[in-house]
Amino acid sequence: MFRIAAAVPVLVFSLAAAPALAADGQQLFNMQCKLCHTGGPMGPSLSGVAGARIASKDFAYSPALKAKEGTWTDANLDAFLKAPSTFAPGTRMMLNVPSDENREAIVAFLKTLK
Ligand code: HEC
Repeated sequence: MFRIAAAVPVLVFSLAAAPALAADGQQLFNMQCKLCHTGGPMGPSLSGVAGARIASKDFAYSPALKAKEGTWTDANLDAFLKAPSTFAPGTRMMLNVPSDENREAIVAFLKTLK
């Protein structure tokens, strides 16, 4: 009896260093987010959002988002973008970003918005 251990190493190359990631995120942001997030009535400004208190801009937030405690950590941004109405049931932001990679890139870009 032979046992053949077919060990096929899967090599994962991470080509995207942080600045490249943010650049990808900027493209995604321009396509998917910018429309609403200009600081007008459609969505709050996202400048400085990373690390800021949730729902702390001058914007008419939903009671759902206002009721959330805490700050926009990476994990909170990721959770919100993955499933806004799971993170804050009743939120008025409907768009979600199902791709883990795209969310990571978008969060990296959000951190560059001062
Ligand atoms: C159709 C309009 C619309 C689009 C598109 C949209 N948003 Fe939003 N976003 C909103 C609204 C409205 C809120 C406020 C939600 C609430 O009050 O419940 C919000 C809230 C947020 C917040 C919380 C802001 C804060 O001050 O606490 C973040 C972060 C955010 N959006 C990121 C994004 C990103 C990233 C994208 C693109 C992937 C995106 N949004 C696309 C409308 C939009």
